Amino acid sequence: MSGKNLLSVLDLNPETVKMLLSDALALKNGRGHGIPRGKILALLFEKPSLRTRVSFEVAMMRLGGKAIYLSPPEVGLGKREPVADVARVLERYVDIIAARVFSHNSLVELAETGSAPVINALSDREHPCQALADMLTIMEHKGGVKGVKIAYIGDGNNVANSLMLMSAMLGADFFIASPNGYEIQPDTAEKAFAFSIQSGSNIECLRDPVEAVSEADVIYTDTWTSMGQEAEAEKRLADFSGYQVNSDLLCHAPERVMVMHCLPAHRGEEITGDILDGPHSVVFDQAENRAHVAGAVITYLLGGLEISIGS
Ligand code: CP
Ligand code: NVA
Repeated sequence: MSGKNLLSVLDLNPETVKMLLSDALALKNGRGHGIPRGKILALLFEKPSLRTRVSFEVAMMRLGGKAIYLSPPEVGLGKREPVADVARVLERYVDIIAARVFSHNSLVELAETGSAPVINALSDREHPCQALADMLTIMEHKGGVKGVKIAYIGDGNNVANSLMLMSAMLGADFFIASPNGYEIQPDTAEKAFAFSIQSGSNIECLRDPVEAVSEADVIYTDTWTSMGQEAEAEKRLADFSGYQVNSDLLCHAPERVMVMHCLPAHRGEEITGDILDGPHSVVFDQAENRAHVAGAVITYLLGGLEISIGS
């Protein structure tokens, strides 16, 4: 690859994650000044989005840059024209690309072919910008991340992969409870175990949601049917019964527990409305933090944030 990209949490290390979180906080507090002034971001999306699209556009506006949104039917990545040609064309127009793709390999090809840095705006494998926003939210509510116990209930999907890797990097404990056939990929778990040895975090892949939440500071869930898996929706609904985040499950967790969801949520499926909209939930803080993290990521990939001292 020609330069810096953020395709996976594995493109970062504990120090860069901490720096990005601190930069995101500086931007949130109005202390960051952007390298992105005058720069252009292309948002290349194969799937729908609310948070990711708007957070990146808002981040560019706040930093004095501009964003161009390319909607799912427009580009036809790999269909209307090859991914490599899209990369070679976009690098002539824009400074940086955020792409939401069905296949993670498309991101790798965009990054390998073009010279513009590429940000993973969600792929089938990972959602690193979501994990950064989640960690910022945990930091704000729990006073830090190290030693925090995160219980993830449900599908071992893109969101779970990124959150597990980042938890292991930062020293948060991560317990994931998934039904048979929906466990996190073994290669992600192995990489997370390797980081956990360095950071001292405890990573466990479980079957029982009650066991996962029994000491949790955070309960996290995501949709049972990710974008692109719609044909499996009925089967998934049946396979995930017993994995709903609801008041019965929260009874097994400590009172201090905080509930997180990357959104969009499906009330009555992976989470009940009373819990998503209740006092333990911080889901809209997570959503807000997506924009601060987007600013930090763009600035990092374009050269670094300038922080005002003493303001
Ligand atoms: N959480 C998240 O990525 O939301 P969108 O799909 O709306 O971007
Ligand atoms: N796992 C979900 C996340 C949406 C933000 C999906 O890929 O559709």
